[in-house]
Amino acid sequence: MNEPILRPEAVRALLAWYAQSKRDLPWRRTRDPYAIWISEIMLQQTRVEAVKPYYERFLSVCPSVQALAELPEEQLLKLWEGLGYYSRARNLQKAARTVLAEHNGEMPADYEGLLSLPGIGEYTAGAIASIAFGIRVPAVDGNVLRVLSRVLGSREDVMRPEVKANWREALLRVVPKEAGDFTQSLIELGATVCLPKGAPRCEDCPLRGDCRGAALGIAEELPVRGAKKPRRIEERTVLLLRDGDRTVLRRRPPKGLLAGLFELPHVLGHLGEEQIPALVRTLGLEPLRVERLEDAKHVFSHVEWHMIAYAVRISPEFDGWPSESELLIVPNGDLHKQYAIPSAFAAYKKLL
Ligand code: ADE
Repeated sequence: MNEPILRPEAVRALLAWYAQSKRDLPWRRTRDPYAIWISEIMLQQTRVEAVKPYYERFLSVCPSVQALAELPEEQLLKLWEGLGYYSRARNLQKAARTVLAEHNGEMPADYEGLLSLPGIGEYTAGAIASIAFGIRVPAVDGNVLRVLSRVLGSREDVMRPEVKANWREALLRVVPKEAGDFTQSLIELGATVCLPKGAPRCEDCPLRGDCRGAALGIAEELPVRGAKKPRRIEERTVLLLRDGDRTVLRRRPPKGLLAGLFELPHVLGHLGEEQIPALVRTLGLEPLRVERLEDAKHVFSHVEWHMIAYAVRISPEFDGWPSESELLIVPNGDLHKQYAIPSAFAAYKKLL
């Protein structure tokens, strides 16, 4: 029998530390599996401080699986506006509809049932199962991989799926009956003590006596991550098209990056100011004045947008496009209330 990934004494030390040191976070005051699900999905790609207000607002608008299943898509995207990775919101709703149709509106109370829902992978299923239902399964996210690579003093590449699968297997054998606290204690240790970017605070760590990385003096070099593909860079020219009281928006296609959200029209490439009037006319609009705006950059997971932008005053003599068009002209008063415009356009949205 191999030795356990964490000794029972280390598990106890971790739980005792968590009881003492855990942050008071809104999703730690509930055992409601629905609320915990929402929090875990939000926390996957977003910082704790940024998630807090979204979490509270989401639950007040959508307090139940049924409310989420029935929320109109535009309102859902509006609730998610600014959080990014919008497929998370769409999958939440898809899963809510499945839970309503196939599970009587109750979240499945087992790991496999959770795992079968859209947008719920091994991490999220483990987190909900352990935190909401006390089921003895682990949840391995980036925080936990960092902690384990250091505790084990392992230079294995944590981006490799086999590494994660092996450590998950090993953790499965040591999850104590306080499964939810165990899950959260590992995440909390990674977030507050075993910090990323080579900055662990080992003097405050309940696992320091068990940490091979610290003993070998290599904790700061871990985890090892294989080289990622560099992000593609796309140059874009963004247009802020307005008459006196209306602004032009474009609906993104229903699939792909930022699917279904609203955006400022833009084209590939960096265009010169002299090219803008002709471009605007191709949309059926009459440009009156063109002004260059500040440049902006937005980093997605796989692509970077390097944006230049022009504000174009357009003639108000324009009745709009047919309703099936991707383009629409909306009253400025409705812009922020009704339309979810992704953060990629933050630099220009603030001018609206
Ligand atoms: N990140 C992912 N899950 C979390 C949780 N439950 N608490 C704090 N940060 C987290």
